[in-house]
Amino acid sequence: MAKPRLAYVCQNCGAVSQRWQGRCESCGAWNSIVEESAGSGIGAQAAPGARKGRVFALSSLAETDRPAPPRTTTGIAELDRVIGGGFVPGSVLLLGGEPGIGKSTLLAQACAALSMKDRRVIYISGEEAVDQVRLRALRLGVAGAAIELAAETNVDDIVATLSHGAAPALVVIDSIQTMWTPLVESAPGTVSQVRGAAQALIRFAKSAGAAVILVGHVTKDGQIAGPRVVEHMVDAVLSFEGEGGRDLRLLRGVKNRFGPTDEIGVFEMTGRGLAEVPNPSALFLSARDAAAPGAAVFAGMEGTRPLLVEFQALVAQSALGTPRRTVVGWDAARLSMVLAVLEAHAGLKLGQYDIYLSVAGGLRVGEPAADLAAAAALVSSLTGRTLAADSVYFGEIALSGAIRPVTQANARLKEAAKLGFRRATRPQPSPDAGAEKGEPTADELVVHACKHISELVAEIAAGAPSSSPNGARASPRP
Ligand code: TYD
Ligand code: MG
Repeated sequence: MAKPRLAYVCQNCGAVSQRWQGRCESCGAWNSIVEESAGSGIGAQAAPGARKGRVFALSSLAETDRPAPPRTTTGIAELDRVIGGGFVPGSVLLLGGEPGIGKSTLLAQACAALSMKDRRVIYISGEEAVDQVRLRALRLGVAGAAIELAAETNVDDIVATLSHGAAPALVVIDSIQTMWTPLVESAPGTVSQVRGAAQALIRFAKSAGAAVILVGHVTKDGQIAGPRVVEHMVDAVLSFEGEGGRDLRLLRGVKNRFGPTDEIGVFEMTGRGLAEVPNPSALFLSARDAAAPGAAVFAGMEGTRPLLVEFQALVAQSALGTPRRTVVGWDAARLSMVLAVLEAHAGLKLGQYDIYLSVAGGLRVGEPAADLAAAAALVSSLTGRTLAADSVYFGEIALSGAIRPVTQANARLKEAAKLGFRRATRPQPSPDAGAEKGEPTADELVVHACKHISELVAEIAAGAPSSSPNGARASPRP
């Protein structure tokens, strides 16, 4: 038999090369190439003696009148919503997050919630001893839950154990980087090992109809450590994030074959585990100082849920040759664009100012609809005029200075009205959008339609934004 060939596999992207290099040619990562046995990297060929193909039955797409996959709900609403309404049996989910963010805590709570519903739940820890997991459960107040525990890292043993007895409803593997299989000849944590282990667990999930959650560590630059390939193999990828030093935790869907990916779940880390935050807008606005210039409330959407957050801007005379532009929680390129539009179409001179923009509460906003709120905060700080405390803003700014309509305007307005806001500045609804149904009445909210960025600037410069007579349904509140 020929001696095993060696291949050099990048631990960052999984690319295979024939010789060792300091830098991966495919992804550009330095020092990421590790020697592994050939046949384990991407594009590996089947061994020559492998069995012949078996003929299997094909089924018709049209004849599948099967019901939607059943879902196993945990009862933790913030988690269930992000995964699309509960775990799908037979699916594999990857949960990524920085060390210490609370992945093990979240999963311990999910396991406990499911076990209360008399479902078989197994928690395999490759990082902590069984006693450490017990201590955490004690702290969470779920020490009495019927969760089956083990501290194991050999995937073959794990799959053998899981296949024994009744099929579990949920299996947690904490973490995939600690798992290894004797079938692969590389060290645990390498691409081949992680992929081999993930493959074995995915196979188990499909055959047993159990939902499996893999915990994945995240590198400094925010990627799930090691193999991106695992992200492609699993059915759903969630990321658990938080702001350094804060108790707020956000659970985001990154990929989901069985549900939406734009939902977020909001939690707060307390002394007794993660608490759900059912009304995050109230939390994000809780520490607001509405009397200071430079703050504007953005009526945003995160998936199907409206979310109000405060944009804070500081425009200050610069002592530097090149003024500073700093953004936290928003896209720096979008800030540059909004500043350029303010200069070009509203006549503002911003060249000699340092500009800081931040989204309060540690949230990251990705929607273009935030342009108008960012612009309002910037103009407010520049002019020193405080915006009305009961005002919200949303709308996308075009390069021409026009304010473009955005989706789900009514959901945004409703949330604002619910939280006690009385005015909203938003784009003119597009004529082909059809009749705006369910818009809050003028009693609840005075809606001002803003067509151009110069209107916004003129209004703020003139004092608090008033309701415009030609606004969509503007009529001042009695
Ligand atoms: P953990 O779930 O172990 O994080 P991960 O698995 O993502 O590495 O959570 C660790 C942090 O959470 C730790 O710093 C302590 C804190 N924590 C609480 O604040 N309250 C709690 O009830 C628990 C269990 C943990
Ligand atoms: Mg952990």
